[in-house]
Amino acid sequence: TTPTNTTHLKITTPIGLISPRFYGHFAEHLARCCYDGLWVGPSSSIPNTRGWRNDLVSALQQMPVPMIRWPGGCYADHYHWRDGIGQRTPRLGISCGTRVTDTNELGTHEFMDLCELLQSEAYLAGNMASGSVQEMCDWLEYTSGTADTTVTRERQKNGRKDPWDVKLWGVGNESWDCGGRYDAKTYAAEFKRYGVMMKHVDPSVELVAVGNDEVAAARADHMETFWNEIFMEHIQDHIDLIDHLSVHTYWIDGGAETGFSEENYYTLLAEADTTEEAIVRAKRTIDKYVRGRKNIKVAMDEYGVWHPETRPWGPGPHDDSRPNNFEQANTLRDALSVGIALEGFHRQANILGLANLAQIVNVLQSVAMTEGEKMFLTPTYHALKLHEHHIGATSCHVEVQTDRVFKMPRVTATASQKDGNTNLTLINRHISEESQIMLYDLPETLLSAQLLSGPAPDATNTYDQPERISLQPLDVYKEDNTWKLTLPPHSMATLRFSR
Ligand code: AHR
Repeated sequence: TTPTNTTHLKITTPIGLISPRFYGHFAEHLARCCYDGLWVGPSSSIPNTRGWRNDLVSALQQMPVPMIRWPGGCYADHYHWRDGIGQRTPRLGISCGTRVTDTNELGTHEFMDLCELLQSEAYLAGNMASGSVQEMCDWLEYTSGTADTTVTRERQKNGRKDPWDVKLWGVGNESWDCGGRYDAKTYAAEFKRYGVMMKHVDPSVELVAVGNDEVAAARADHMETFWNEIFMEHIQDHIDLIDHLSVHTYWIDGGAETGFSEENYYTLLAEADTTEEAIVRAKRTIDKYVRGRKNIKVAMDEYGVWHPETRPWGPGPHDDSRPNNFEQANTLRDALSVGIALEGFHRQANILGLANLAQIVNVLQSVAMTEGEKMFLTPTYHALKLHEHHIGATSCHVEVQTDRVFKMPRVTATASQKDGNTNLTLINRHISEESQIMLYDLPETLLSAQLLSGPAPDATNTYDQPERISLQPLDVYKEDNTWKLTLPPHSMATLRFSR
């Protein structure tokens, strides 16, 4: 008989391409994500490249960062892009209850420079609620236009000869709430105006329409619960305009960010599993109205853990004494949650269009934290690093025979294949027990095996102990034609094989 701590795994059939866009990030002008996070300015004493701090850029280059959404979030519907080109205009920077002076020192040229430094695709979130159709069309022409016009001449005058050719455009953000409290029918009418005009300027753009998840909406009393249903009903005869429907999923039920109970631990992991369900639900609604005419994809363009200490709404424990800076402890549990969401993204490779972890630095589920000269990488950084070889590969189903713990599989996995190589990422979700793993039908040559684990699920990195949680080599061996390994409790690992 098999002891219950033994899991058997086998990679089976291919699913679809793991688009680099599934590994997108989100950089909002919020708290210290952009200003005093990524951006320190060219005159800073912190070593930087044209304003972008070097230590961070080099860490992000290694992760990697295939796509970035900017400048919001809620901030996007206050942002006027012309304030951030040429002579800069200081404005009230507004998002998520914060109001600060935004110098607009960081504007379109600077953001596009970051994208070039990181080799990332840009995803620009356009202002619907306080902007205009013309303003968004001009931004598109400014970034992507090739004709000789006043707008493209302005770009050239500001130092950029060739267009950047930005394909991904968001039309508003959370328009059911901070982005204007539209109802879905009115938003659909507005989206049509923006969509037609944007696609006139550049028919090759991909537009992301604002959607909402019914389950998340049902939890907030001021939101329309069947937004996607109503929006899709009103846009179904104009599907040429829409390429992606956005859904935001924040995990909020895991109790305190550190010092949480066992039940809290599993509750957060279970919530991370629901990210996939939100993608599938949104796609079902899309397809009900699209009826096979187009593959409109789901854009999970904000996801991640939002702990109660950094938000005043939703389940607690709240901490009113903390500054409203959205900075979280970023534990190993959070990193496992991202791994769980990525398993779902890989399984839904054919219906997911893109995803953006919220947010890249110093805000919510960041991959790095900075303070003056100092910086450290969070466990989430290492979790993403563990997934780098999946990017651009074909995801595959994995047959997993495992015990259950707290109503979920004890061990879960995702696999991909590319150019004769096989990548397998495993998560031992058990909070306190190790798991024995037996892998069948895998190639002969093990290229690498790396482990992300720590002394406790709420372990973090800090400025004083920046490498407490980092990737370690993992012992994997072959016996009786089967690869075998032991995963420590609350851990994640990636194994790479070649033919
Ligand atoms: O990521 C923080 C905020 O969460 C974003 O500004 C908004 O879109 C969402 O509500």
